[in-house]
Amino acid sequence: MGGNCQILLINVILYTKLFGDCFVKRNYGVQFLGIGSALPSKVVKNADLEKLFDTNDEWIYSRTGIRERRVVDKDESGLSLALEASKQALENSKLNPEDIDLIIVCTATPDMLYPSLSCMLQGELGASKAVSFDLSAACSGFIFGLVTASQYIYSGAFKNVLVVGVDVHSRFLDWSERSVSILFGDGAGAMVLSSCDVNNDELLGFVIKSESDKKLDLTLTNNNVHFADLSKNIEANFVKMNGKAIYQFAVDVVPSVVNELLEKTSMKSFDVDYFVPHQANKRIIDMAAKKLGFEESKVVSNIDKVGNTSAASIPLAIHHAILNKQIKFPCTMVLVGFGAGLTWGSALVKLNLKSV
Ligand code: UT7
Repeated sequence: MGGNCQILLINVILYTKLFGDCFVKRNYGVQFLGIGSALPSKVVKNADLEKLFDTNDEWIYSRTGIRERRVVDKDESGLSLALEASKQALENSKLNPEDIDLIIVCTATPDMLYPSLSCMLQGELGASKAVSFDLSAACSGFIFGLVTASQYIYSGAFKNVLVVGVDVHSRFLDWSERSVSILFGDGAGAMVLSSCDVNNDELLGFVIKSESDKKLDLTLTNNNVHFADLSKNIEANFVKMNGKAIYQFAVDVVPSVVNELLEKTSMKSFDVDYFVPHQANKRIIDMAAKKLGFEESKVVSNIDKVGNTSAASIPLAIHHAILNKQIKFPCTMVLVGFGAGLTWGSALVKLNLKSV
């Protein structure tokens, strides 16, 4: 009897390990309804940076793949970019702002610490029925946002969710120093997710991860006046990065997290139509695509025109590729992000947008 019980228990454990997901009965799937994006109007070319510090177009392009980036002017902000991208995504989805139940704004550079960018966006959009919050996962923000949104949809808590990735790093760069400021640009990308029949789920799988950046290889401080030290000068808040360490982190985690996702979803890279990596450095993108076996024609990239737009980079790259008629629907895409935290993650999605 005891032996039988033991065998039964082992079987249950094995079965749960192998088919665990099957026990979680879901009633809803996630469908991607629409997309939008926004860039500031001011273009900063590599040649413009030559006037600020000792650098040149050849160095920047060969080391990063970046030719130009956009930066906000005085009348632009994270909010104005997020608003423009969200309006496009809603129009593309054929939804009204009042149809939105939840707004998640993924950003590490909000206009203010509070109110949150998402609450400000909710007001500007007129999304009167929504609840809103910001999500901070740096350049992995959009992947984390999609995954978070999907869980609310799967559970039946919300039907229509607006996910926005937006960052304005230009306000947090030391423009007298060449090592970091060449990389970043400002921008926003937005997608609308909606609930659908569970059998039509378009989020085929995801893996998200984080660990503490104990060596502080990528930081943006939040220095401010300290009551205990009122006379001290406040150090400016600038992005600081150990470029080589973050480069190594990226070349390690990007292939490994995508491989984990492909294994989890029983897919091979040649089954996937497009590869959309976070646009941080063209050398990282090329190396990851090669390691994973994605041929060049499947790789979605716009880093030459926009630089590293952090949480906006994945939806921005997808939207630009759609507008440039590089994407054929229906299609499958592997998205992968990595960044400060440290955070990283990947998602396999089906995309069949009707009109863009
Ligand atoms: O989304 C956030 C995640 N961030 C990333 O993924 C960034 C990952 N890291 C990188 O992309 C690269 O490390 C960088 C592009 C930031 C730097 O490239 P690198 O090949 O690692 O260059 P380096 O820092 O090792 O510098 C090489 C040389 C140095 O000169 P010496 O010491 O060899 O004489 C630098 O002083 O290049 C020099 N250098 C520059 N020269 C011209 C560094 N920055 C510049 C510059 N222009 N902007």
